[in-house]
Amino acid sequence: MGPPDRLRGAGLFLMLLLLTTGVLAQSGQISQVTDSGVRNRMAAMNANNAALTVLGDMMGGRAVFDRARARDARRRLIATTGRIPALFRKAHADPLSNARPDIWSNWGDFKGLAKSAQRAARGLDSNSLPRLRKTLPRLVHSCLACHRAYRKDMR
Ligand code: HEC
Repeated sequence: MGPPDRLRGAGLFLMLLLLTTGVLAQSGQISQVTDSGVRNRMAAMNANNAALTVLGDMMGGRAVFDRARARDARRRLIATTGRIPALFRKAHADPLSNARPDIWSNWGDFKGLAKSAQRAARGLDSNSLPRLRKTLPRLVHSCLACHRAYRKDMR
């Protein structure tokens, strides 16, 4: 059975595409960032991405479903999305940052998007592959919703 047979709906397909084409990819500039506040928040985002990739690989059939690994990735996503407000509260700046300045003039909205990402991470069901498939899209959409609003030139 090829992957397309197992995918339900265009939303799921789109999401796999996003995960495999690196739309959530890191800027690759973290090592040149001198501001430690900006570096910390980029590192946290990259940790989000690493945990999401573990789950995306299982969902896309590039990795075998492993309940313990899935549970661990879920735990890390809950913790790291929960740190977003604290990491961004101060308007740390760096020429290599891709954060839009409107984060700090729309702080309540930004915090709300962080909260809904954490809620989506909590909502991940890591107990089986079908349940993971059902619950992962909401998380990916929550990452993208914030990036669309508050991350420059990227998703
Ligand atoms: C509430 C807003 C918000 C949410 C939710 C969010 N991000 Fe981000 N993310 C940002 C912002 C803003 C930046 C840009 C930070 C900077 O360059 O200073 C960013 C940057 C990134 C980067 C690039 C880091 C780098 O090295 O340049 C990755 C990768 C990333 N996010 C992944 C994710 C993933 C995966 C999720 C979901 C699990 C997620 N993000 C959820 C706001 C968010």
